[in-house]
Amino acid sequence: MSDKRQQEKLALEGGLKAVTSIEGKGQPKIGVDEFMAVAERFGFSESVLGKIRKAVESGDVGEGAYLANYYAGLKQTKNEEYAALARKLFGVGYAIPMSSGTGALHSAFVAAGVGPGTEVICPAVGFFATAAAVVSSKGIPVFCDVNESMQIDPTKIEALITDRTVAIAPTHYQGGVCDMKSVMKVARKHKIKVIEDCAQSCGASYAGKLVGTYGDIGCFSISAYKIVGGGEGGLLITDKLRLYERANQLAECGGLWRPIRFDPPRYKGELYCGTNYRLSELEAAIDVVQMKKMPATVKRFRAAYTRVLKGLKTFKGITPGLVNDIEGEVGYTLRFFPESPRLAAKIAEALRAENIPAGTRGPSGRDDWHIYHYMYPVTLKQGPTPDNCPFECPLYLQAGGDVNYAKGQCPVADDLFDRAVSIRISQWYNAADCKHIANGINKVLAAYCEPDPDGKPWM
Ligand SMILES: Cc1ncc(COP(=O)(O)O)c(C=O)c1O
Repeated sequence: MSDKRQQEKLALEGGLKAVTSIEGKGQPKIGVDEFMAVAERFGFSESVLGKIRKAVESGDVGEGAYLANYYAGLKQTKNEEYAALARKLFGVGYAIPMSSGTGALHSAFVAAGVGPGTEVICPAVGFFATAAAVVSSKGIPVFCDVNESMQIDPTKIEALITDRTVAIAPTHYQGGVCDMKSVMKVARKHKIKVIEDCAQSCGASYAGKLVGTYGDIGCFSISAYKIVGGGEGGLLITDKLRLYERANQLAECGGLWRPIRFDPPRYKGELYCGTNYRLSELEAAIDVVQMKKMPATVKRFRAAYTRVLKGLKTFKGITPGLVNDIEGEVGYTLRFFPESPRLAAKIAEALRAENIPAGTRGPSGRDDWHIYHYMYPVTLKQGPTPDNCPFECPLYLQAGGDVNYAKGQCPVADDLFDRAVSIRISQWYNAADCKHIANGINKVLAAYCEPDPDGKPWM
């Protein structure tokens, strides 16, 4: 056959291929410059950056990085590595990397069936993001009071359960832990779901079991300021396949998570319109490293916390915070309650003068979205549209819903929040640091209060 005929014949029928090579070669889509931008963000000096550039320019990265977190070829993506690590660390069947803790909570609530006309019981003290994620799911948060641990008071949950209650969302506050056995007992009795907000207590445990693994779903924030801190990231864990799939659908409604992406639904409720909370590969790369450090980080915090607690004396008018599990708390906050907000403010000021990082959130402070009645995005009961969904949703009103967010609804939280003195504990304190901190606290308390050898012990 002539060359011309060979060229005209379709390749499908044995002819020559029309395209045998592509000659236009550009730069990698993501290569040295992008890598250098990341190195810059890490804060290296100009001279170090120059050396890094020289080193990375000498290597060949081919087409460059492909930063998709799904289907990135044969190699495991950082997202997949992060999910596998989380499954192993927490001993759970399923883990979903998320772009934020809020995203994890939103996905969890929707997966659990929160929607118009439903309620979720949230703690009076925590962070507004938990309740806000309920509202984003079109549910109504109902606040439950706390006890002297500043965690949800399990004895007060039952009275708040109605026909509309779908879930309880205990927040493990400031490195502490909720009394999860009691929370689970109420939830199971009433057949309602438990969504644990572990954003502030990643790595903490209660009665020897990691928080996040008690409830139906555990949610974590991996933002810069958290115990395991990346930049902006999150994590959702569960042992329940259906909840995992439904949470995935909210978090990644493009269906990339599905075994066969574009297949019709495999069961009723599998597919619905969600959003995109996918975690970037760059953040996942950092979160893998951070998450690996979690057990050692938690161990250091705990050691420093118990060392300081052991050195403290008891005083009249000072109530140590209730510790639900001394072996399980992370312990980055040591808390106690002087008998009045005024005394709390004086003690905190004196502690700071001793170089001890203490603070109050008393009545003289600013409005604070860590206590229910100041969580404005929730308590104003305003939606982004004039219908004020979900607060004025007919489904909610017809179901008899009428929630009250005014101060006074959770009197223990109102009182304790104003009187609490919190001392920040560093994971890097050595034995001598802990001794000096404990001595300093004793010194200040002795200046304002009478000793009380029979007082409530610190631990
Ligand atoms: C208790 C609690 N829940 C949820 C969140 C939200 O996490 P993110 O900032 O990653 O969305 C936070 C963050 O501060 C938090 O403290």
